[in-house]
Amino acid sequence: MKFLIKNGTVINSDSTVKEDVLVCDGKIAAVGTNLCNDSVETVDATGKYVLPGAIDSHTHLQMPFNGTVSADSYFAGTRAAACGGVTTVFDFAIQRKGMGICQIVQERDALCSPQACVDYSFHVALTDLTDEVLAEFKDAVEYGLMSYKLFMVYKKDGLMMNDADIYKALERSKETGALIAVHAENPDIIDMNIEKFLKNGQTSAWYHYLSRPEYAEAEADKRAIHWAKTTGAPLYIVHLANEDGMNAVADAVSEGYTIYAETCPQYLYFTSDVYKREDGRNFVCSPPMKGQASQDALWDGIQKGLISTIATDHCPFTTEQKDWGKDNFTKIPNGCMGIENLYPYMLSEANKGRLSFNKAVTLCSKNPADIFGCTEKGAILPGKDADIVLYDPTIDFTITNDKMHSDCDYTIWEGVPLKGYVTSTYSRGRLVFKDGKFLGEAGWGEFQKCAGRKI
Ligand code: URP
Ligand code: ZN
Ligand code: ZN
Repeated sequence: MKFLIKNGTVINSDSTVKEDVLVCDGKIAAVGTNLCNDSVETVDATGKYVLPGAIDSHTHLQMPFNGTVSADSYFAGTRAAACGGVTTVFDFAIQRKGMGICQIVQERDALCSPQACVDYSFHVALTDLTDEVLAEFKDAVEYGLMSYKLFMVYKKDGLMMNDADIYKALERSKETGALIAVHAENPDIIDMNIEKFLKNGQTSAWYHYLSRPEYAEAEADKRAIHWAKTTGAPLYIVHLANEDGMNAVADAVSEGYTIYAETCPQYLYFTSDVYKREDGRNFVCSPPMKGQASQDALWDGIQKGLISTIATDHCPFTTEQKDWGKDNFTKIPNGCMGIENLYPYMLSEANKGRLSFNKAVTLCSKNPADIFGCTEKGAILPGKDADIVLYDPTIDFTITNDKMHSDCDYTIWEGVPLKGYVTSTYSRGRLVFKDGKFLGEAGWGEFQKCAGRKI
């Protein structure tokens, strides 16, 4: 299968050039001007931008969590991904007590593989860090698994890792080339606040935010950075949402430490004010959206190159599931949707001039490819997979749930206006989305073996 994308503007992390892209058998065969090939099918991209597909390096699809399961199956989640220009998804495989790394990934892959509409890989969320598991880091490299998430919270759910676990995992990651990621929040402070609020009958979603204040996240960011410095291992902080934590990352980076910070579109667009809304519980996720100063600090971190990636933490729960916590915020399943909004939102911000298109590509595609070792992804270059997004910067698009492709019955992004929108997505050369319609198929997505950090 061969086709030529003509007359578009190719945007990579470091270049913006009007040139054509020749796709052959799922790969980018050539990029250049006047790639004249009369015998191949042509896609006219006049007026459009030609971008590498986004990599959403943080999703939770059909994930057992908070006593229920997140609302998007691997099919629905990757369908929504395709329709938002995401061509690779990193999902979290959560270890259950006693399970090995490859075992838990094999289990999740058996669910994901027949359903995936775009390519995928896994991070393993470790919850039981035994000596056997630490030893298995090496075999996992062979399997193509090189990233682990440690929850510093969710103590009562049995997911939390303590400081000794964090230390041990960081040490082991240095020996094996793996990367440790942390969900940083202080569990004791949060539990203390929860107890106090519930005792006072303060049960609305607003108290979810107040129970997990800026300092509860910042303390854990700083603690994780401390252990990264102590061990000399690189560290990846997922869903960073607070100003003080951002400053701690800046300080550590300026001292020469390798600290990657990920944030999410919801922290860049919404503030804690959402928890005062009637539908506030739909926005309940952890860490929660923070105040304006934190949001400003995240945007500043993007400008300064201190935020390495933008990912979604896509973990939707239906209205019915969220309503379990109508009278008690601790019963609201934690998580929000965003997989279909990641690239359109960041590109819209680029289109409005808040960052360059190259920077949006760096954050959403190039850096996740390089950090997680997806050697075939992240750029429109000969030899890479033909994961290509066509983007029309002139479209005015308003997000409404009826235009989204998740299985969830609402979106927190309802009514948000975007400047420009994705018009086509190709996954390894196959058209999976065009002009609002999903054209992909379950089972198309392939497991990506990760090759380790390139930056
Ligand atoms: O609220 C969230 N973020 N839910 C998903 C699990 C996690 O902590 O990333
Ligand atoms: Zn998390
Ligand atoms: Zn998450």
